[in-house]
Amino acid sequence: MNLLQLLRQRLNDALVPLTPEPETYVDMLRPAGDTKFGDFQANCAMPMQKSVGKPAREIAQLIVDGLKVDDICEPPSIAGPGFINLKLKESWLTEAATRSANDMALGIDPVSKPRKFIVDFSSPNVAKPMHVGHLRSTVIGHALYRVLKRLGHHVLSDNHIGDWGTQFGMIIYGYKNFRDEARFAEKPVAELARLYRLVNQLSDYHTLKPALPGLIEAQKCAAASLAQAQSQLASAVASGVKKSPELQQLVKKAESDLKAANEEVESARKKLAAVEGDSDLFDLASRHPKIAEDARLETAKLHAGDAENLALWNQFLPDCLQALEGLYERFGLKFDMALGESWYNPMLPGVLERLEQAGLLTKSQGAQCVFIGGNEAPFIVRKSDGAFTYATTDLATIQHRVESLKADAILYVVDSRQSEHFDLLFATAKKLGYRDVELQHVKFGTILGEDKRPFKTRSGDTVGLESLIDEAIVRAREIVNAGDDGKPTGAELDEETRQAVAEIVGLGGIIYADLHHSRESDYSFSFEKMLATKGDTATYMQYAYARVNGIFRKGGVNVADIRSAGHALNLAQPAERMLALQLLRFGEALQDVAVDYRPNVLTQYLFETANRFSAFFEACPVLKESDESIRHSRLLLCDWTARVMKEGLDLLGIRVAEKM
Ligand code: ARG
Repeated sequence: MNLLQLLRQRLNDALVPLTPEPETYVDMLRPAGDTKFGDFQANCAMPMQKSVGKPAREIAQLIVDGLKVDDICEPPSIAGPGFINLKLKESWLTEAATRSANDMALGIDPVSKPRKFIVDFSSPNVAKPMHVGHLRSTVIGHALYRVLKRLGHHVLSDNHIGDWGTQFGMIIYGYKNFRDEARFAEKPVAELARLYRLVNQLSDYHTLKPALPGLIEAQKCAAASLAQAQSQLASAVASGVKKSPELQQLVKKAESDLKAANEEVESARKKLAAVEGDSDLFDLASRHPKIAEDARLETAKLHAGDAENLALWNQFLPDCLQALEGLYERFGLKFDMALGESWYNPMLPGVLERLEQAGLLTKSQGAQCVFIGGNEAPFIVRKSDGAFTYATTDLATIQHRVESLKADAILYVVDSRQSEHFDLLFATAKKLGYRDVELQHVKFGTILGEDKRPFKTRSGDTVGLESLIDEAIVRAREIVNAGDDGKPTGAELDEETRQAVAEIVGLGGIIYADLHHSRESDYSFSFEKMLATKGDTATYMQYAYARVNGIFRKGGVNVADIRSAGHALNLAQPAERMLALQLLRFGEALQDVAVDYRPNVLTQYLFETANRFSAFFEACPVLKESDESIRHSRLLLCDWTARVMKEGLDLLGIRVAEKM
């Protein structure tokens, strides 16, 4: 049941006689911030004044006169300039909560119009080990996939693996020239990753070496621009100008340009020094001056069907995919499909033909492009060397997903930095006639280090995802140990359980820390924060869950009995009432996640739930309650909380432990 939706429906009915556009106002009915005045509040009377031409209080009265909620609420009251307050009837709330608490489906009705969703997430470029940058897409996508499914939609997860891009040319080049046979035999994926890094490093070297003087020149120019802007501002101030937003803006912009130029030079110098400071590397670099170009040629040969390169590709790919599997397993993640870029290769000429027929192609510097009005950047679908691109593949992907898989909506859970690509992709798809499918770039920000700079290891490398998880588990283990050792009645977990719990806590901590931020914002990665036992963390909720189980164990209560007895809830205490109302709103939280594809709506909901549970647990004795029907009601509330927490976390891809 979605209580908010129900009340909004009733409000809508009351608004119809007053305004031609009730839908603009119904959303102003919200859960009350301050429950002193009621459970819900509608603030629509004030903004309606202009169109209705009456004072807000009068409008509020007209709304209340027409509002039929007497089956659910006490008579509505009007406060201040025209706030309408609604308080649920105790009888209604108790009955609805009792029904939900005894419903193992947690009162979630499947959506009335299920849609077919494809969720494209994780989608790493293979043959490079997964790094921290892949975390966000993987966990956000996984959570959205599960929530949409739980709501009753038809959902397919698709791992759009990058298995056909330029990195394969680099690996093939590396394999042909630099491979270590023994290492490859022992750990093929690690060796391929090493080769990839090596080829990347050497081609970077040859690109940066001649570019450095230009970068230094640009840095000097940026410094000069800044000095000029600063002196302009200074003389303006000297001549008595108090505020000059334009000049201040100019200085700010010059500062950030200089910072970027400095970073570029610094990074180039570091990369060059790394090669020049290592005689073996330097020797390799000298012997492979055209490495970037040659690696590109290997990719081109692969795409053209060259037998040797295709055989290598076929040899490498299964190992790479298997390495990914290992990681996904830790996340409890299984994709419905993993149609990588290579899968679409045969469709690409057809895509180009369709674009041609639709009159969308323009030749620009030898490349075939789609120009979208208003967007300066071209959408390149075929490069001047004849190669198809990431863009062409994504068009083929839409074709397949819409025409064969009959998708109503496709979600791309991808870094915000690819916004331009998706803007152009969606616009091009629309021009090709894909107008009815919802195409969404579910974008997210960057993970930063605690220093607020891109998250790197101490040596400056990207942080591997596998090692990150391992470290979280090691740290979680310390927390689990301390928690168990500190129990007043003595430790109760054996070694094996402690380790199993540490895995649940460590991984849950990483996942939750990622999901609880608004997805577009960058966030700083911090083990301390994410594993804190108090606050908005998975650990806090996992402990809350285990605590409920502890109550049952301590009281010798059989949960199955509680679930089957059909006990009635008694919500006489404010803390009981607050908790029940919150639990009743679980389905609403899930629906809200799906509105704008935001898992943090669910983390917020769970955090609030855990807080309300704590308040309830402090205020209301459970096992010690002597009145049997109240004790049963409270046990049912505990179990209901546990089920909501467990399922809510599970939908986010986070597990719980029965005992911690
Ligand atoms: N492989 C791409 C990358 O690592 C992400 C792919 C996202 N999905 C898509 N259909 N473009 O940047």
